[in-house]
Amino acid sequence: MILQHHLAKKKGESMVTNKVQAVVLAAGKSTRFNTGKTKLVEKICGQEMILYSTRLLEQLHIPTTVVVGYQQELIKDILNKYHGTSLTYCVQEQQKGTGHALMCTQNIWDREHILIMNGDVPLVTPDIIQHLYEEHLTTNADISFVTSHNPDPTNGGYGRVIKRATGTAVIEARDFEGDATQESCINAGIYLIRRKFLEETITRIEQNQKSHEFYLTDLIKIASDHKRIVTTTLAPFDHIRGINNFQELWAAEQVKRSELIKYWMDRGVHFSVAHNVHIDLNVSIGAGSFIGCGVHLLGKTCIGKNCRINEFSSLENATIGDETLIHSHTIIKGSTIGVQSQIGPFAHLETCTVAEQSIIGNFVEIKRSNIGKGTKAKHLTYIGDTQTGHDVNIGAGSIVCNYDGNQKQKTIIEDETFIGSNNTIVAPVRIGRGAFTAAGSVITDDVPPYALAIARAHQKNKEGYATKLRTADENENASTSASFIGALKTKNSAQTT
Ligand code: UD1
Ligand code: CA
Repeated sequence: MILQHHLAKKKGESMVTNKVQAVVLAAGKSTRFNTGKTKLVEKICGQEMILYSTRLLEQLHIPTTVVVGYQQELIKDILNKYHGTSLTYCVQEQQKGTGHALMCTQNIWDREHILIMNGDVPLVTPDIIQHLYEEHLTTNADISFVTSHNPDPTNGGYGRVIKRATGTAVIEARDFEGDATQESCINAGIYLIRRKFLEETITRIEQNQKSHEFYLTDLIKIASDHKRIVTTTLAPFDHIRGINNFQELWAAEQVKRSELIKYWMDRGVHFSVAHNVHIDLNVSIGAGSFIGCGVHLLGKTCIGKNCRINEFSSLENATIGDETLIHSHTIIKGSTIGVQSQIGPFAHLETCTVAEQSIIGNFVEIKRSNIGKGTKAKHLTYIGDTQTGHDVNIGAGSIVCNYDGNQKQKTIIEDETFIGSNNTIVAPVRIGRGAFTAAGSVITDDVPPYALAIARAHQKNKEGYATKLRTADENENASTSASFIGALKTKNSAQTT
């Protein structure tokens, strides 16, 4: 509470200063993930882990250097895509620990204080950094770092913060032999160090005997032993969770997701089963909307006001207009749906636009197409590479054949046309304004405006033929069943004798 009060007081003040530069450590091998891939590219609520630190530092206007090494191209790709050329990199060729990673950045230190952040601590807030900075300056410290109380101190690989009258030290989890339940204060992996002190002491870090790594945390003991000022600040555990394995990734994502859901709840969004919804960082939802059980809202999905997204639908980079209803089990990707429309259930839309007041119904798939205002395709339809006008009606079971085996062809269905049920529309083709196509037609040629196209075989009725067939059938069945009963009888009598 005291911490929160303190933070609240400082809100609004910015840490913009030319005294601080940041180093993010991201060169490690991520061995505890057991995937062979660097954990820093794993996503939390749709955003790669590494971007959480670099975006925070960008928000605080602190120039940032990222230490890369293991799979550095993967990490740099993600960072460059988001930040362009605004970050600098240092390479740690061999991963010899966090202290060694910091040593690799020595040549770029040019500000008074160096802020160091472990790249695998993604949920840090600006307040935590702001608070650290203020305490660092107020206490005139050489080294300040963020600590927290781990609710389950026996769990996780955090370094323990041991404060004694003789000084402060961080003992790494694997070297800690005390009572973990008593020593629940842990090191968050976020440090602010005076450059002068760092330059004097960085070479004094010794290789750990057990792990053969250089621990950044040794600087705390070195400072303490030399009677330098060491300051600690406290932060909520949920915001400094470190991520070393999939369990911790999962736990951190739960925290972030709950934050996002609470945020949208406060803005008038109703979640029917909140713990069963997946929501990404860049999603936005309008007031009065309802989100059902098991819904996935991914990427930059933007839902308007008073919408309803029913159970188990998945929306990725989708824009949904106000008052639109998405029925259950619908998939929408990279598409825009207009206001007051209805989509699904079991519809699948990719890279398309659907204008307002349209109805796209059960088991309808639409790809790379634009659907005009008030158009309806209510049942069992496939529409691909098609431009439809407004107020078109597409009958049940109709299909646009957009692929000729070689390339995708275009179809144009103009305003107010009526496509009968079970049509096969073979692209490229244009169906003119106001035209009708008869049920069951195979449309291969353009249909002029206001024409009726019938493209199916003529029906022939053969009088009395059904009765003839039925009689033939019955005779055949009678002889089959007689022989079957006969066979059974023979078998039974054989058994009783
Ligand atoms: C570290 C701290 C521990 C703290 C915890 C907080 C040390 C020695 N220990 O432990 O006290 O409680 O973070 O989460 O610092 N990295 C490199 N190069 C390397 C090794 C690591 O760049 O050679 C990077 C990693 O990619 C990672 C970060 O440094 O982003 C932290 O490394 P990690 O191995 O996860 O440290 P922890 O064991 O969690
Ligand atoms: Ca870690």
